[in-house]
Order: sequence, then C-alpha cells, then structure tokens
Amino acid sequence: MHSIKLPVGALSSQSWMQRLLPKRLWCQALLIQSVSMLLITGLAPSVINSVFAFELRSLGIQLDSIWCWLLIHMCVVSGLAKLARMPVWWRWIHVIFPLAVVFMQQVALPASVYFTGFIITLTLYWSVHNTRVPFYPSFPATWRALQRILEQHAGDKSLKVLDIGSGIGDIAMFLAKQRMHDQVSGIEIAPLPWVVSAVRALFSGTSVTFTLGDYRSINFAELDVVFAYLSPAVMQDVWQKVQQEMRPGCLFVTSEFPVPDTVAEHIVFPSAHSPALYVYLKQ
Ligand SMILES: C[S@@+](CC[C@H](N)C(=O)[O-])C[C@H]1O[C@@H](n2cnc3c(N)ncnc32)[C@H](O)[C@@H]1O
Repeated sequence: MHSIKLPVGALSSQSWMQRLLPKRLWCQALLIQSVSMLLITGLAPSVINSVFAFELRSLGIQLDSIWCWLLIHMCVVSGLAKLARMPVWWRWIHVIFPLAVVFMQQVALPASVYFTGFIITLTLYWSVHNTRVPFYPSFPATWRALQRILEQHAGDKSLKVLDIGSGIGDIAMFLAKQRMHDQVSGIEIAPLPWVVSAVRALFSGTSVTFTLGDYRSINFAELDVVFAYLSPAVMQDVWQKVQQEMRPGCLFVTSEFPVPDTVAEHIVFPSAHSPALYVYLKQ
C-alpha cells in the first residue's frame, strides 16, 4: 500500500479562516460581504440607540449617516479578506465594490443605463468563463513587429495568416493593409468585438475577413501563420493544436504569453512598453 507524505506544515500553513471558507474566490468574497453586512445591519440599531451614542456623536461620528457604516463595513471586509489570505486585488475589490454600490445609489441613474452597461459587458466578455481569455487590445508596436516577422519569414511570398481571438480586428487589419498579397483573417468568439471588426473590415479597402466563432473548432492545417494574444491559461492547449495541425515550416507567434516549457525560436521586443512576441517554428 502506498502512503502519501504531506510536507510538514502543509495543513497548518492554511489559516483557520481558509479552512472554513469555500474554495472559489468569488464564493469567499460573497460570503465575506454578506457576513459583514449582516453584522453591521444587526449592530447598527443597537449602537444608534445605545448609551454611548451621545459620546460617539460628540466625537463627530455621524451615526445616522450611511457613509459612517459603509466605512466600518469596508474595514471589516478588508480585514476578513486579509484573514482569509485572499489575493491583494480581491481586498481592493472588497473595498471598492460596496463604495461603488452606495455611490451609484446616491447618483440614482436610470435603470436603462445599468441595462446598457450589462448588455455591453455581456457581449464584450461573452464566454470568458469558458475561454478564460478576456478582451484587451494589442499595441501598434506589436502590429509592426509582427509585420517584420512575416517579412523575414516569407518576404513577398503570399501567406495565410489567422489571428485567433481577433478582438476588434486591429492587428489583422493592419497586416492586411501592409501586406496586400496575404490572406489575413481573424476569428473572434465575443459578439461585440466581432461586430466592430466586421464593420471596420467593410470600410478598410482590404480583403481581411472576420468570423464569429471559436478557434478551438477550426483546423490550422491550411494556415501559414497563426497569431495569438490570449492568456497564460490556454497556451498549452493552443500549442497542442499547433503541434497537431500546422504544417512543418509554419509559424506560431504569441504576444506576451509564451508556451510553457517550450523554447521559442526567437523572442522579439517590439518596444519598451509593449509585451514580447514569442515566435515558434513548427518542426
Ligand atoms: C487579448 S484579446 C486580443 C485581441 C486581438 N488579437 C489584438 O491583438 O488586439 C483576446 C481575444 O480573444 C477572444 N477569444 C478568447 N477565446 C477565444 C476563442 N476560443 N475563440 C475565439 N476568440 C476567443 C476574446 O474574446 C478576446 O477578444
């Protein structure tokens, strides 16, 4: 029988709070916010009616103001998040979120504004829960560096280039304008960026095309160059697809996020402020 030895202190390194809380960070956050809110709504009336209320007011503490209780809530939630050892950005979310809720309630915007915001967010970040890749655009220095990589790779020879997760189409449109003889296309899963890219393509005067869809369901066999600006969470899967489907001699270029445990053919630094491009040659 095999026994597994846990490193000494593996369990004790977890705080008691961490052991009590659910595993998912958003569940932890929801629980912490709810506990603090319940505590404060339970305590507030007793404090306001207590014998100390007069002293507290004379110290300048506005017990009837929502901002006073909000401040206490913010301290409690960020303290609980620290105890739970949540990542630092979650502690900031804990503080900013209730502040934003109360502020927006005071501003009293019409419901249509929230509905519009919801629709924009939904169509922009469509299936991030499934793809684990949100939308953020690449930089012009990256577009120019990719153009140079294509020139070094093939000169004036015509290439089939695909941007997997093409966003609003920036990089594909740039390449299509600079390299008129290439067949440049993009595939994008989120409806809003895809609509923007498709409309831009209509007026671009180039042959660039954008498809609404999932790059995981298409075959890379016909492509000469695949460009990706995705996220570290998917690089291993994309690389597996590249290995299985692309022809030898073809290029896979990824911006910012390299393929784990694989050495790139070369790494290009487009500018001081834009991320590196990792270039892989399919063997
Ligand atoms: C970081 S953005 C990059 C946008 C664009 N390539 C650029 O360089 O500006 C990544 C995009 O990939 C899209 N995406 C993520 N997973 C995808 C998938 N499986 N199929 C197609 N698009 C995907 C996201 O919706 C997002 O718009």
